[in-house]
Amino acid sequence: MAVAANTPIELIHRVYGTLDERLAVGRRRLGRALTLAEKVLVNHLDDPETGGLDRGVSYTDLRPDRVAMQDATAQMALLQFMTAGLPEVAVPSTVHCDHLIQAKENGKVDLMAALEGNSEVYDFLESVSAKYGIGFWKPGSGIIHQVVLEQYAFPGGMMIGTDSHTPNAGGLGMIAIGVGGADAVDVMTDFPFNIRWPKLIGVKLTGSLNGWTAPKDIILEVARILTVKGGTGAIVEYFGPGAESISATGKATICNMGAEIGATTSLFGYDDAMARYLKATGREEVADAANAVAHHLRADDEVLANPEAYYDQVIEIDLDTLEPLINGPHTPDLSRPVSRVGADAQLNGWPTTISYALVGSCTNSSYEDITRAASIAREAAAKGLRCQTDLMITPGSEQVRATIERDGLLADFERIGATVLANACGPCIGQWSRSDVSEGDLNTIVTSYNRNFPKRNDGLSTTLAFVTSPETVVALAIAGSLDFNPLTDTLTNDAGEEVRLSVPVGVELPDQGFTAGESGFIAPPEDASAVEVVVRPDSDRLQLLEPFAPWDGNDLVELPVLMKAQGKCTTDHISAAGPWLKYRGHLENISGNLFAGAVNAFTGEAGTGKDITDGQTRPYPEIAKRYGEAGIRWIAIGDENYGEGSSREHAAMEPRFRGAAAVITRSFARIHEANLKKQGVLPLTFADPADYEKVGEDDRISILGLADLTPDAPVQGRIHHADGATTDISLLHTMSPEQIEWFRAGSALNIIRRNTAG
Ligand code: F3S
Repeated sequence: MAVAANTPIELIHRVYGTLDERLAVGRRRLGRALTLAEKVLVNHLDDPETGGLDRGVSYTDLRPDRVAMQDATAQMALLQFMTAGLPEVAVPSTVHCDHLIQAKENGKVDLMAALEGNSEVYDFLESVSAKYGIGFWKPGSGIIHQVVLEQYAFPGGMMIGTDSHTPNAGGLGMIAIGVGGADAVDVMTDFPFNIRWPKLIGVKLTGSLNGWTAPKDIILEVARILTVKGGTGAIVEYFGPGAESISATGKATICNMGAEIGATTSLFGYDDAMARYLKATGREEVADAANAVAHHLRADDEVLANPEAYYDQVIEIDLDTLEPLINGPHTPDLSRPVSRVGADAQLNGWPTTISYALVGSCTNSSYEDITRAASIAREAAAKGLRCQTDLMITPGSEQVRATIERDGLLADFERIGATVLANACGPCIGQWSRSDVSEGDLNTIVTSYNRNFPKRNDGLSTTLAFVTSPETVVALAIAGSLDFNPLTDTLTNDAGEEVRLSVPVGVELPDQGFTAGESGFIAPPEDASAVEVVVRPDSDRLQLLEPFAPWDGNDLVELPVLMKAQGKCTTDHISAAGPWLKYRGHLENISGNLFAGAVNAFTGEAGTGKDITDGQTRPYPEIAKRYGEAGIRWIAIGDENYGEGSSREHAAMEPRFRGAAAVITRSFARIHEANLKKQGVLPLTFADPADYEKVGEDDRISILGLADLTPDAPVQGRIHHADGATTDISLLHTMSPEQIEWFRAGSALNIIRRNTAG
């Protein structure tokens, strides 16, 4: 086995070396026992004696051990890092080329096409990584979170990643938080990572998984209970006897999808399953180090004995009685047992015929996942069944792909007609060139992915995506219909016989060990002085950044409302992915998608609004460009949980670039709110959520008293109605003193640059 990278063992010893002392400080300061999340956070406090520990209240500086970036978000993060003027990154960091590979034919052909089509971006990322001491994972080497789990995650560690599913590493007991590129820039420039001290949700798992029920079903059940907002501002900690029955990769699936409930991150306590995974992935030394401090890598016994006294909320799930679930369409918390989805589809007019079935993604492409899904495929082939719908498999990493190929599992899928895609995100992020349906064709897909917002997978709002476990995806692909319950129903085979699928069988870790496959890692050179980072001035993919202007010291007076969003407005609605991914390194070009998916609260139409300069209806990106070029500052209005979804800071940078001064909402998703702060846009919420209704299409908004902006104090807003009347409203914010400075300086990066220069 070749392990190309790995977190250096010295770093892990350093982290473990402070546990005794720091946890004692934590217990003294809080006057009680600690949960696991508290232990990891306390051990990473910038200042263990003074760092705020008030849940949901204090903003606290932390020192993560690592940074990971995927290729779509790394471009803007590293363009920002370049402007900071430092010789190398302050903490071990990696770049993973996974998001830009489009699924069309098959893994090999699609990878070649990506290498050709994205060469400029890949060359930039490879050279900028070499220049600044960053490990570079080439296209085809795997999906960021799977590679991090295989190489870098370690129990009790802390990392940030520029992707919302970074919490996947919680499967190895790490606090791993999805952030915007601006946060990554902070940590890479040796500034602390600032975060509101999280609330804690405890999930006690009893019983054990059995039959068709998989780790995926646990998180689908948690999503049902907590909904897409229920984890906001919280870390979800899993414990109980059921937790120990789940493999490390199964735990990672559960932590990965904690992003779907808005959780800051999720994690499990250190156990034998984690030790087995560490050893199987060539990290025996890490397992030994973790074993030596194992008592520090779980919640204290007092916590486990009486969780209600330590967590803000405790949920209990009995794995013995949990049924296989399938969630969707359009939202991951719309849950029901697989046995009911056919009936639900008929009731709601959703097509029961499945147009595509997709297995893999960072959520569900471990060796164990693939063996369980392949066992269904193998049995189906033996019983004379084939897929009734197109089935595509995305391995999570080259290590997984090479291992499942060696062990005959890919052949099991191919025998029932499946296509194997590149080791990359592909259809999970809308990188899917699909020709069988087009916009307007209502169609159903089933995936083992995590996210199922409209347009997420194929850019089509009329595709209904359901998420479930990989083995259930394969069973449904063989049946071709949502109206099939693999637990009870039979299928007709080639010979006209009625056959039933057996319970899936998984293998936690490969008997012969993992094989690394084709090497995809490039370590940075010892001496990078000769490395040149080139950004072509005429590039339409990459653009060097200009700093945003500082606040001019004046109140914001009578600004137009460029966009008032109705209902869900995710980062996909604000800055769509799919075809726009290629402009992630070019702020001006990617701003051509601004608010293109947002539903106009005044018209119910998506993507268009009224241009106040001439009263014409235009696409939002066009209005924003016109305002930006005319120097007109403006405001956007959002509904509940505005900006939920991914961590992309483009959703904050684009409005800023086009002149947004503030975004006022009923509530924000955490990462997006932080990103707006970083870029110098004021994120405000209506003190009275009903005030959202008072904002009319032709109204102007003033935000007053900004010179006195202080933490925890409301801000005065005034709506100037079109008929001349005014309504005063109270607005709230969550900015710390430091974050208020970001607003004043024009962005957080302006402060970093100033400090670096000074
Ligand atoms: Fe990629 Fe989908 Fe995960 S986009 S990182 S595979 S959520």
